[in-house]
Amino acid sequence: MDLHVALLPGDGIGPEVISQAVKVCNSIAKKFNHNIVWEEGLIGAVAIDKVGDPFPSKTLEICKKADAILFGAIGDPKYDNDPTAKVRPEQGLLKMRKELSLFANVRPTFTFPSLVDKSPLKKEIISGTDFVFLRELTGGIYFGKRGRSADQNRAFDTCEYRRNEVQRLVKKGFEMAMNRSKKLCCVDKANVLETSRLWRETVQQMEKDFPEVEVSYEFVDAVAMRLIQWPKQYDVLITSNLFGDILTDEASVITGSMGLMPSASLGNSTSLFEPIHGSYPEVAGKDIANPLATILSAAMMFKDGFGLEKESSLIKKMVEKSLEQKVVTQDLAEINSYSTSEVGDWISNEIMKY
Ligand code: IPM
Ligand code: MN
Repeated sequence: MDLHVALLPGDGIGPEVISQAVKVCNSIAKKFNHNIVWEEGLIGAVAIDKVGDPFPSKTLEICKKADAILFGAIGDPKYDNDPTAKVRPEQGLLKMRKELSLFANVRPTFTFPSLVDKSPLKKEIISGTDFVFLRELTGGIYFGKRGRSADQNRAFDTCEYRRNEVQRLVKKGFEMAMNRSKKLCCVDKANVLETSRLWRETVQQMEKDFPEVEVSYEFVDAVAMRLIQWPKQYDVLITSNLFGDILTDEASVITGSMGLMPSASLGNSTSLFEPIHGSYPEVAGKDIANPLATILSAAMMFKDGFGLEKESSLIKKMVEKSLEQKVVTQDLAEINSYSTSEVGDWISNEIMKY
């Protein structure tokens, strides 16, 4: 198969973790006779530095042409502590999501048997966890009207959702639940927020089209607690943009390392795959960052982006093997750790040998 992939390394550790995913994908392509054409684009702080725009139109064109997008990370500390900065790297990410209509963000949480001791949570609580968040990504408070009063003393952000925006996400949620354990949790704050009441109403209306799915309605504050108390009770959770942002960071604690969490952002024409960790500037360029979340994102790309399941499961299998054999970066190693590129080389090699 000919596969066109837009490659967006971005900032911080982005380039070094992306290189490992590229190695792994190229091994998969060799093994299964695919031809991957990579086209690289600028995004984030590096794009601001080079062309003054965090998501240049050239990058948009590259993404539109591609079958899928593989993305590293965005963000640079020089902007974080400067509230007056007019252009920020994160705007690039938000613009990309919006322009490509990547409305459904899929963030799975699962445990690896060899890593259950890495989580600060008790082993009995977390082992066997397997749920997935479906976070709305192109609406809500992230994209609502915002501003300041003339005297600068009042600020506001608005959260707005349209019924059809909610419907398309909820539909994906039900479909996903049908392919998993047939449980769907609608996470909202319907006791306070009008947008949440619209969400709840929409889910209630769509329930009858998916009679096999068991639906629960839970408030976001309660889910924040239950998620780490009884993670095994969840299967598919659907959320608005901001609630999903917060809860998926919380969920990453279950896995034991943020360096392991992949994600997909699905749209109508193309989709994007990225690790959920950020640009981690403290270790950028040191070849010590964990590349597994990006490699697992590439695995998601084969399955959800190209419909190639065997390729996807071989990547996952070799990631598991690297964990079992302790070929891991320092965040997961007690004594002997491997560098980012050594982990990438090892996994690519194992794929070729398999
Ligand atoms: C994420 C990130 C982004 C978000 C930031 C970088 C804008 O935290 O992908 O979760 O809030 O969506
Ligand atoms: Mn986030």
